[in-house]
Amino acid sequence: MDRLLIAGGAPLRGAVRVSGAKNAALPILCAALLSAEPLRLANVPRLHDVRTMLRLLAQMGVAAAAEGAQVDLDARGLDRPLAPYELVKTMRASILVLGPLLARCGHARVSLPGGCAIGLRPVDQHVKGLEALGAEIRVEQGYIEARAGRLKGTRLVMDLVTVTGTENLMMAACLADGVTVLENAAREPEVVDLADCLNAMGARVSGAGTDVITVEGVERLHGARHSIMPDRIETGTFLAAAAATGGAVTLHGTRAGLLDAVIDKLREAGAAVEAQNGSIRLEMRGRPRSVSLRTAPFPAFPTDMQAQFMALDAIAEGTATVTETIFENRFMHALELARLGADIETAGNTAIVRGVPRLQGATVMATDLRASASLVIAGLVAQGETCIERIYHLDRGYEAIEEKLSALGAAIRRVR
Ligand code: EPU
Repeated sequence: MDRLLIAGGAPLRGAVRVSGAKNAALPILCAALLSAEPLRLANVPRLHDVRTMLRLLAQMGVAAAAEGAQVDLDARGLDRPLAPYELVKTMRASILVLGPLLARCGHARVSLPGGCAIGLRPVDQHVKGLEALGAEIRVEQGYIEARAGRLKGTRLVMDLVTVTGTENLMMAACLADGVTVLENAAREPEVVDLADCLNAMGARVSGAGTDVITVEGVERLHGARHSIMPDRIETGTFLAAAAATGGAVTLHGTRAGLLDAVIDKLREAGAAVEAQNGSIRLEMRGRPRSVSLRTAPFPAFPTDMQAQFMALDAIAEGTATVTETIFENRFMHALELARLGADIETAGNTAIVRGVPRLQGATVMATDLRASASLVIAGLVAQGETCIERIYHLDRGYEAIEEKLSALGAAIRRVR
């Protein structure tokens, strides 16, 4: 298994390009299932999760070809609407095939995702929504078995804000008979990117980016081209790393408007942040100040940036309170950060982080994707060498992270 070795202490300096967003690419790859015509995608990040999704689609009969950041998909031959446990268990986002398969094929068999490192993460809202659209759903031997004639548009209110739940229902509603109104929908920018792609395919989706999304069903969707939006979490991770190391970086190919809440917190920590068309520059002088935060659905502070800010707070001046409201078990990085010398106390969904002047390198273990990113940031500021094990988590969601960090002057290398 690969490991990352980081010799900490060097401030990050220079410029890198941000990749396409993992959490926009995954649902948009599934949107290809809705049409019998080709979908050409640009700016697709080269990530393990993207390859897993392409394998999943391929075994259903979708022709997929990737060349660099371009992916061509053709679901004309879609003949096996099945998502097997072996693939779903490695990537929860596989549930995103359920809505499109049901809408296009009239049936689908999708494994339940099972346990997950960051919390229970059930899929009851996906199921409830599809039932409201007229599907019959049973759970048998760990599989969701869904059947429907043509889905029927309806008005439905989701019990809670769910990103992939909103995406699944939005995709299913595109081919339904009549109008679907999704209330209490997720407002995340990735939902908007998916809606843009669906509309390019001939769908009639409006309101994406607000909490009421309206979908007028159409008979069929056609081929299209779409470019995936920039990854706002990769952007935020590099900004947090630059701030923690007291560096100065410019990120190209991204948009500050995607992460206002994160940029506000970086400024509160003492960083100077400037945005100009398509790039963001951050400069941090001296030690960061602690910033307290509370995660919540977009446009509030994202749960996917919580771990990285805990690493920043670990070396900041002052004491921060970090509250996680989206997932019930997303503090596993706290114990690993403590192995590097951080002073963090957790109780329920709150962590108290007392900043220390410096961390010390040690061997730590990555437990999930964003936890891994927080350990990388901690390793970049720690004295001496940090060894991060189980970095396959990192490869699921960050494209070429060690190359990008090396380009910014970090002493980081992968050991196979
Ligand atoms: N929930 C339910 N029932 C449902 C669906 C969700 O109770 O039917 C709960 C979850 O258990 C959780 C909360 O609702 O407590 C929010 O979960 P959500 O459904 O929004 O999460 P998700 O769609 O599974 C996406 C991202 C995550 C990100 C969350 C929150 C993708 C592929 N994944 O997950 O990204 O943390 O939204 O913003 O878009 C990551 O990239 O590291 C990652 C985990």
